[in-house]
Amino acid sequence: MSEFDFDLTVIGSGPGGYVCAIRAAQLGLKVACVEYEETLGGTCLNVGCIPSKALLQSSEYYAHTLHDLAKHGVKVSNPTLDLPTMLKRKDEVVKGLTSGVQGLLKKNKVTWLKGRGSFVTAQKIKVTAADGQVTEHSTKNVVIATGSKPIEIPPAKFDRKLIVSSTGALKFDAVPKHLIVVGGGVIGLELGSVWMRLGAKVTVIEALPQILNGMDTELAKGLMKILEKQGMTFHLDTKLTETKTAKNQVTALCQKSDGSTVEITGDRMLVAVGRKAYTEGLGLEAIGLTLEGGGKVPVDHDYRTPVAGVYAIGDVIKGPMLAHKAEDEGVAVAELIVGQAGHVNYDAIPGVVYTWPEVASVGISEDKAKEQGLEVKVGKFPFMANGRAKAFGMTDGFVKIVADKKTDRILGAHILGPNASELIAELAVAVEFSASAEDIARSTHAHPTLAEVVKEAALAVDKRSIHI
Ligand code: NAI
Repeated sequence: MSEFDFDLTVIGSGPGGYVCAIRAAQLGLKVACVEYEETLGGTCLNVGCIPSKALLQSSEYYAHTLHDLAKHGVKVSNPTLDLPTMLKRKDEVVKGLTSGVQGLLKKNKVTWLKGRGSFVTAQKIKVTAADGQVTEHSTKNVVIATGSKPIEIPPAKFDRKLIVSSTGALKFDAVPKHLIVVGGGVIGLELGSVWMRLGAKVTVIEALPQILNGMDTELAKGLMKILEKQGMTFHLDTKLTETKTAKNQVTALCQKSDGSTVEITGDRMLVAVGRKAYTEGLGLEAIGLTLEGGGKVPVDHDYRTPVAGVYAIGDVIKGPMLAHKAEDEGVAVAELIVGQAGHVNYDAIPGVVYTWPEVASVGISEDKAKEQGLEVKVGKFPFMANGRAKAFGMTDGFVKIVADKKTDRILGAHILGPNASELIAELAVAVEFSASAEDIARSTHAHPTLAEVVKEAALAVDKRSIHI
């Protein structure tokens, strides 16, 4: 018998936490997962990736029906929006997946400790249930996987009615007439797209000179142009400084970088200016764990915090706030805890923005390569010259591959176009396996597919594309 109740207690059941718990259980550990929400799955499944993708899909069907089907010879008279059904379907998708996670934990004999977890000591976790009942559990190891929360800024405090975070923008009970989006990042563009497709006027305020900060400039600029064509309005170099609300009305007072001011009035405001690590109430002080700059939990290469036996993964530590990064860290830390060589390759983590068209990226951007003085060659191929894209009627965008000039090794790949989220997988594997552009160029890609654009971009690295 172990001297502990559990070999491992994972605090948080998001994609980082539940995946870590399952992997640890597969490796033979006795595992608990602490979660206070009614459903498992954390932000991603409940109020993030999954519900937003459900709404993106539904709103895309609606927009295609309104604007594109007639071009295909399909006439639909008077398509109308049934928002309650759309929102209900989104909730059902979420419910199916969160109960699926519950089933997975059960199958792997992971104990769900329902309540808020906090440290008594590094090896004792207190769990406070919704009804106030407290239990304590001894544990050999702890993984903190408590994720992140939307950042609230003083000029636009969430009132959960007129001014909302991403959570509120998943459940507006009517389509806003004019949605003001503060922050031209991933959340702003995805949820802005949802409501624009459903009929809202959408205005994005972005403090920086570019949307999707950090993304390859050509992709970001290309996407902005297409979103503008779809009807989205952008104010770049524009910072929100104050907000005024009246009955069913919200006014954004903004300052541009040249000192001029802009005033925008709408009926709803989504504030999506980033997320911050969520550590409140964890009792980190009880174990002497101090947060690093930016409020993140400090960890070493192997996800160890400075406190023995306490690890951390996901949004609560450094690195991109992405569900798949957290998942892979969850697997890696479980393997490290049992003495295996868990590892995450941070150079091969894809990022996706689920607008239409989609944006997807892996590895280094062309701008970053130039900044770092790397000698690279770049191959680019447009969807316009691809048979399948033409058949779909979705020809916006391109694939760009950045390869090392001498070795031809693929250092990065960037896609703006239909199904970019799926197409990037091949290139993420290429980066992971240190493949060359020629490796991709010589691999047979089925015809006709969108994936041929990836092959043609790889051919373009050596200036030998066939179809252009
Ligand atoms: P973000 O960091 O992507 O973008 C926030 C933007 O707000 C920045 O461009 C920033 O310059 C701007 N901003 C900040 N203060 C401002 C102000 N006062 N006025 C105007 N603009 C201002 O953050 P976002 O979109 O909130 O997303 C949070 C996190 O969630 C990100 O790390 C993202 O990776 C993750 N996420 C990922 C998704 C995906 O993988 N598809 C989907 C949704 C979220």
